[in-house]
Amino acid sequence: MKLFTPTELGRLELRNRVVMAPMTRSRADQASDVPTDMMREYYQQRASAGLIITEGTQPSAEGKGYCRTPGIYSSEQIAAWKTITAAVHAEGGQIVLQIMHCGRVASAANKAAGVRTVAPSAVAAKGEIFTEQGMLPFDEPEAMSEADILQTIDDYRRATENAFAAGFDGVELHCTSGYLPAQFLSTGSNRRQDEWGGSLEKRLCFVLEVIKAMTAVDGADRVGMRICPGNPFNDLHDDNHQETFSALLQKVDPMGLAYLHVIRMPQLGLDNIGLAKANYSGALIVNESFDRDEAETVLDEQIQAVSFGRPFIANPDLVRRYREALALSQINPKTLYTPGEAGYTDYSTFD
Ligand SMILES: Cc1cc2nc3c(=O)[nH]c(=O)nc-3n(C[C@H](O)[C@H](O)[C@H](O)COP(=O)(O)O)c2cc1C
Repeated sequence: MKLFTPTELGRLELRNRVVMAPMTRSRADQASDVPTDMMREYYQQRASAGLIITEGTQPSAEGKGYCRTPGIYSSEQIAAWKTITAAVHAEGGQIVLQIMHCGRVASAANKAAGVRTVAPSAVAAKGEIFTEQGMLPFDEPEAMSEADILQTIDDYRRATENAFAAGFDGVELHCTSGYLPAQFLSTGSNRRQDEWGGSLEKRLCFVLEVIKAMTAVDGADRVGMRICPGNPFNDLHDDNHQETFSALLQKVDPMGLAYLHVIRMPQLGLDNIGLAKANYSGALIVNESFDRDEAETVLDEQIQAVSFGRPFIANPDLVRRYREALALSQINPKTLYTPGEAGYTDYSTFD
């Protein structure tokens, strides 16, 4: 099957096209945002993937939204990530760091004391977020000043630099699911009337500047980007996501990224993969509810790989199980975000 053949995405060399999708699992140290030993074991167990994309990782203390998510902004965090990238490389795997700034999708209860929650505009997301103290409403965010925006763009640059210092093969910009980049792109959350909002062109600026900053570190061919046009997750609303993402992709296309990672969303009646193909000419990774056989049929000249999320949680040896058509284990949804090894590193291989 084509799924098990090698491919290249920019500078990344995948030994197969079964990619592990980014998944927040909340096993980092809550006080320091430092990755734990248990995370090293978890990623090493899954290193037979053609590529691992890590859980969303904050580029700064301000970028943290949830509890027990890792960071990539301190020397302790870089040192801990180094052990993880080394463990994956020892198994012959490749690993990309997903950089996630949550913006307004946050609670002060999940952050260090005094760390702000910021967003393009002072518009809170409706809904609640999990904290160690139970469910709490999303914070009322502070609207970012011009200086805040420039600082945050630089945080993404530094996070990229730190990721490479930690041995990652690449970095991925998380640009969906209602987090900061998506907040800038969308009319519901971006009410600014300056260089960073007010027109379609200006709503794109933040994401484009972040990509420029990330690609300036060591070239575009180690940088990917993840999108899901139309995704309403975390109270995200845009008047015309089709127009927004078409314009964005046309601008990103010539930048020569390693890949564009597209989540389909057929339940909303959208054709995100079609939208990506119409506006972007580079390599694609596609995602959401694929199984082995559908993944095999979707691969083509442009779609180079498929990412799998939930199947990788309960099946560390997913590539082997797909290759040999073995039965899959099912996830326990109760332990997705709980601290500790249960439901994390204790899923076994087939035999
Ligand atoms: C527990 C869990 C955590 C997730 N965390 C992230 C994340 O940090 N970043 C991200 O881009 N997507 C995240 N996702 C979405 C997955 O990457 C993926 O898009 C989703 O699970 C659908 O793919 P699947 O049908 O193969 O599971 C998460 C999904 C799950 C189940």
